[in-house]
Amino acid sequence: MKIYKVLPDLKKKKHLAIWHKALRSQWSAEDLNWSAPQRITKDKLKDQMATILTPILMGEQAALYSVSGLIPKLGATCEVESQFYLTTWAVDEARHTELFARYYQRIDREPMSIRRYPAGYLFQSAIVSEDAAEWLAGVLVSEVLAKSVMEEFRRVDLDPVLSEIAHGILEDEARHLGFNHIYLEDRFATMFREAAAEGRTFSEHLHKRLQAVLALVNPIFDRMDAEMKAIGVDRVELYEKVAKEARQRLEKSIACGEKVALGKALAGDPAEAAAIGRQTV
Ligand SMILES: [Fe+2]
Ligand SMILES: [Fe+2]
Repeated sequence: MKIYKVLPDLKKKKHLAIWHKALRSQWSAEDLNWSAPQRITKDKLKDQMATILTPILMGEQAALYSVSGLIPKLGATCEVESQFYLTTWAVDEARHTELFARYYQRIDREPMSIRRYPAGYLFQSAIVSEDAAEWLAGVLVSEVLAKSVMEEFRRVDLDPVLSEIAHGILEDEARHLGFNHIYLEDRFATMFREAAAEGRTFSEHLHKRLQAVLALVNPIFDRMDAEMKAIGVDRVELYEKVAKEARQRLEKSIACGEKVALGKALAGDPAEAAAIGRQTV
């Protein structure tokens, strides 16, 4: 075990504000009413849902692994406030993994195996990084995708438990996106302050990473084209929405960081930062 600094600075107020918010917002799969009557009763619809939920369950598990792996990395760079926040992010993704694992039990089905579904594996592999900023740029795509799919689940309202899961996850995703912004804004503010050229190069690098992850979304949708149609989700619209929002969010975080570095803006109010995930970009 390595402790790099005994007394953390705890100077990053926005990071700390969202950490406290995350601590106060915890909930459990046990809070849901699992005995609510099942509305997904037809075998065909159960099979379709088993396919559609596969990349979602895979994404929750991949996020749990990535976040858990980054916790010690942030310790090594003395980013203790971010390290604190990521402990709650890991709890959130563990909760989401449990929720969908239990949801499979509810519909009495299993997800597709990785061998039958390489597109999902390739998508998740492209996100993984040991650098928090690189990971956050890639994970923006899967977080915005998760958010958009949960909004769709709430809209089509196929089953009360699924709608309840979607509602809870949307709250969590808003925080994840909020932290994504806070971290990247701060990282870019530091970079632009120290060397603007370096900030620009890194910005291009992150945009390329995000684009590479986005390119792997359509192969996932190809595998479940018929199933998405069957439940009333328009894949073209969904892709466009996710691509646009993910790019805009990254752009915004970088631009805010640059403004802070140039002294044109103060790093935002902590409460505002914590709520940023709820803003519609
Ligand atoms: Fe999640
Ligand atoms: Fe998430």
